[in-house]
Amino acid sequence: MKNIDSKSHVRGESVYLDDIPLIHGTLFACVYDSPVAHGKLLNIDTSQAEISEGVVKVITAKDLFGENQIGGIIPDEPLLAYDEVHFQGMPIAIVLATSEDLARKAARKITAEIEPLEIITDPRVAAAKGELIVPPKKFKMGDADKAFATCEHVFEGRADINGQEHLYIETQGAYAVPTENGGIKIYSSTQGPTAVQRAVCKVTGWPMHQIEVDVQRLGGGFGGKEDQANAWAAICAVGTQLTRRPVKYALHRMEDMRMTGKRHPYSADYKIGLNKDLKIISYEAVFYQNAGAACDLSPAVLERTLFHCTNSYFVPNVTATAYSCRTNLPPNTAFRGFGGPQGMFVIESAIAHAAEKLGMSASEIQAKNLLENGDEFPYGQRTESEAITSWKQADAKYDFARLQREADEFNAASRYFKKGVALMPVCFGISFTKTPMNQARSLVHVYTDGSVAVSTGAVEMGQGVNTKIAQVAAKIFGLPMEKVRLHTTNTLRIANTSPTAASAAADLNGQATQMACETIRHRLFEVAKDLVEAETVRDLSLEGGFVHRRGERTSLDWQTLVMDAHLKRVNLSEHSHYATPGINFDWTTAKGHPFAYHVYGTAIVGVTVDCLRGRYEIDYVKCCHDFGSSMNTSVDNGQIEGGIVQGIGWMTMEEVVYDAAGKLRSNALSTYKVPDIYSVPKEIAILPLATDRENLAIFNSKAVGEPPLMYGIGAYFAIRNAVKEFKSSPPYEGGVAAASADGVVLSFDAPFTPEKVLMNLYKT
Ligand code: MTE
Ligand code: HPA
Ligand code: MOS
Repeated sequence: MKNIDSKSHVRGESVYLDDIPLIHGTLFACVYDSPVAHGKLLNIDTSQAEISEGVVKVITAKDLFGENQIGGIIPDEPLLAYDEVHFQGMPIAIVLATSEDLARKAARKITAEIEPLEIITDPRVAAAKGELIVPPKKFKMGDADKAFATCEHVFEGRADINGQEHLYIETQGAYAVPTENGGIKIYSSTQGPTAVQRAVCKVTGWPMHQIEVDVQRLGGGFGGKEDQANAWAAICAVGTQLTRRPVKYALHRMEDMRMTGKRHPYSADYKIGLNKDLKIISYEAVFYQNAGAACDLSPAVLERTLFHCTNSYFVPNVTATAYSCRTNLPPNTAFRGFGGPQGMFVIESAIAHAAEKLGMSASEIQAKNLLENGDEFPYGQRTESEAITSWKQADAKYDFARLQREADEFNAASRYFKKGVALMPVCFGISFTKTPMNQARSLVHVYTDGSVAVSTGAVEMGQGVNTKIAQVAAKIFGLPMEKVRLHTTNTLRIANTSPTAASAAADLNGQATQMACETIRHRLFEVAKDLVEAETVRDLSLEGGFVHRRGERTSLDWQTLVMDAHLKRVNLSEHSHYATPGINFDWTTAKGHPFAYHVYGTAIVGVTVDCLRGRYEIDYVKCCHDFGSSMNTSVDNGQIEGGIVQGIGWMTMEEVVYDAAGKLRSNALSTYKVPDIYSVPKEIAILPLATDRENLAIFNSKAVGEPPLMYGIGAYFAIRNAVKEFKSSPPYEGGVAAASADGVVLSFDAPFTPEKVLMNLYKT
């Protein structure tokens, strides 16, 4: 079944923030942001902006009614800088003008006197100076130190992972409109309507019931709008509060890239110990997370790095320590995988390191250490593992040995083009790691004409959550999809929402919808029972728009039943609440059962590297993926394909570059390369894992949003294998050195851009 938005998308009829018709008198905001990364803010001169054409008001921190604060986890993030600036792009002042253009022109006339302070961009430097966002976090199982002494092989190294720009097609933005009695309605491009509502209430000083947040859909979020849509909504709301006029701000692409945070770069040290049978006995990792200048979601992201630091492997002795380091970059934030991918990259690096030193393929070590059913994660939860089944089913379907042989044969015959192959198993936990966030609500109305309206806390951002929720309602009422309509995500209809994140939106909001629909259906059955002379409601079902009795269609159709129930004064609406059962986590012991379930999978990635130019192509990504039992294969396959391409982009070509002064150099699409249609893998093959196991997902259809991104990590190691192949083949005319005797000649440093590939090919 297609995504219900597909028709309006291709016809250009889908409504995004910028498509909302403007109310007469709307003002446009633009911020003046810090030109330097760190300094004392001595003076702000807004006088030229104030007399600039079309300007209605210029706002600085002193004008705010409420608190100058938008930090969600820790109150360390002022909306507008007032005494210090902490990163280039930090908002200092807001200009409100009668057009977008005039607002931008005026903002350029603002100046600030800033006394420079020391700029830190490196998380290790920040950690050395004690610049931590929160105290370090640690996972411990067994005794890693002791266990290393028993290991046959021990390897230590370092891995560096860069960030990633979200590059949602729709930039950040909001539109605030004054309502009666001093209220404000805010249209926001946010994954977290309640997060926006809270931030707006903080800065305006108004109670939450006075602020309405409404979201139709996003042109992509990818985590970048989980927390970072708040500032722009707060800026518009403050403008509306001070002028009582509607205020809109839709960021220019370069403003967005400059002022918003990205995926967290990490630097890590690892130590891995194996016994003679290649079992990983001990693993130690220290993670330095580059949090940027404010907390944002960094501690939660850091925690997920720890949760996924052993990926799909069972390791009996683990010590993992993680530091969230404050630097002078824009606050980094959620991005598909939420810290998990960085944790996985490090253990995959450790395994590749061991394999290279031992002169074998990493897949030999990977295969020997996959989680078995019942194995314990370092955080205490036991697995219902599909790690081995997904590996075996992928192997049976794609034949790993054959693919490797094909690459070997190609390489033997080819001097300047080399193929590399790598395997990438993935195990990703589903649930917000902060247990209280795992709740959702749904409001279902059945109207007297038989049509159905559903509102939930889920935000549609292209991932198809609305389609899945509509499927839930259609299935329970036995109706065609056209009878069900999903409405905007709105804080008046659904309060206290968790953001649409952690891949859990369909599970949480879908199950709340299922409960609401089942409650209404039960009421309808009570009415129908007499009409079709059934003995009990248990004999009744709804299918194809008719009431069925013991599986036989009756003459009572849906519409007649609904109207009859209404005339009998039966409630045709329901608001239901779902909270994931059985989950918990205790940070005092760092143990618990944080995830409703895990999603597993195994991918094999093949690449061809052009060893004269450093360019490469991804030949294929073939995976066996654990969908549980997919309720929508076209939506889910789309998530897999998109996730893989986004993961490959992060690992191979997307390079976020800040200079030593904290200035973003990759600040536009001309300097930041994202995958396009020419760089997607030539083949993406998806094999659904065959398993009968029950799970806590909606209709057994496991969450799919984030896990496939991590298959992209395989591309890094496949390229690495091709590069190694070139370096260890006979020296050619140019005289490239053969690999050093111990094999490991490349650092673990992502992304593997074509430039880096080229430099590594010829580095001796
Ligand atoms: N797919 C599209 N098309 N656009 C997006 O912004 N975000 C991803 C993923 N897939 C995203 C996407 C992220 S980061 C998450 S957490 C999930 O979708 C959230 O949606 P879900 O909970 O409904 O899977
Ligand atoms: N995943 C994604 N987003 C989140 C999480 C999480 O575990 N916790 C808080 N926000
Ligand atoms: Mo996704 S990073 O949890 O929004």
